[in-house]
Amino acid sequence: DPQQIELASKRRLRRFIVIDEVVDKLYGSKVRAYFRENNVQHKILSLPTTEETKSMDLVLNILQEVQSFSLDRRTEPIIAIGGGVCLDIAGLAASLYRRRTPYIRVPTTLLSYVDASVGAKNGVNFLQCKNKLGGYTPPVASFLDRSFIQSIPRRHISNGLGEILKMALMKHKGLFDLLKNHGKYLLDTKFQSYNGFARHGDAALQTTRIAIETMLEELAPNLWEDDLDRLVDFGHLISPELEM
Ligand SMILES: NC(=O)c1ccc[n+]([C@@H]2O[C@H](COP(=O)([O-])OP(=O)(O)OC[C@H]3O[C@@H](n4cnc5c(N)ncnc54)[C@H](O)[C@@H]3O)[C@@H](O)[C@H]2O)c1
Repeated sequence: DPQQIELASKRRLRRFIVIDEVVDKLYGSKVRAYFRENNVQHKILSLPTTEETKSMDLVLNILQEVQSFSLDRRTEPIIAIGGGVCLDIAGLAASLYRRRTPYIRVPTTLLSYVDASVGAKNGVNFLQCKNKLGGYTPPVASFLDRSFIQSIPRRHISNGLGEILKMALMKHKGLFDLLKNHGKYLLDTKFQSYNGFARHGDAALQTTRIAIETMLEELAPNLWEDDLDRLVDFGHLISPELEM
């Protein structure tokens, strides 16, 4: 109802934010300052979003808090800030609340930056099986800020590089060459550009941009995965079992 939406737009902005506990410790004060400065009434729910806690329990936890915030699904998209686990859990909660509440993804790991940021999927683990419960509800927006990646552990940079290598091997020789020439540099500098040496140009920007574009090319025409022959599933035959 346009009238209702106009009325709501005159009210003070309100936002419900789900944030990974680790990310909250590192960036929470900046996030809070941002909402305060912009006069946005907000509730920040900080959760331990790990592969072990990626379950319906956390989804229900979020939903209880969303309900007590009296969230208006027409004008108040939920914001999820964290790695792929946080984005998947919060996305599932948003898709369930009042049958579908819009949500925004803010990826903070390299893997979620190049992968979960652009997909439609969400989900949680169930009965020891990875992502057994979930759905396809794309976010209304993804905000990409590479500076979050500077604080993730080196091992998780390697995880993200693995995801990028998959796209390079399956789809893009230029991306493969970027990894061949700058991979070690990208790992050492955690994809930050400020300390770039001339010979590496802006390898971080180019690599992440091409990785996301090639990912989008694959996902967009097959958003609901009707075609199961997906290049992005390269390696997935065995990987979910190993990851659990
Ligand atoms: N929905 C999709 O399309 C999609 C795509 C790919 C992967 N996934 C899912 O994503 C998950 C993996 O995501 P992930 O690799 O981001 O793991 P993750 O969410 O577990 O994050 C890895 C670790 O990094 C920490 N962390 C996050 N941001 C940080 C930051 N900026 N600084 C320091 N530490 C930080 C987290 O607390 C966590 O300990 C899997 O569960 C997978 O199923 C979903």
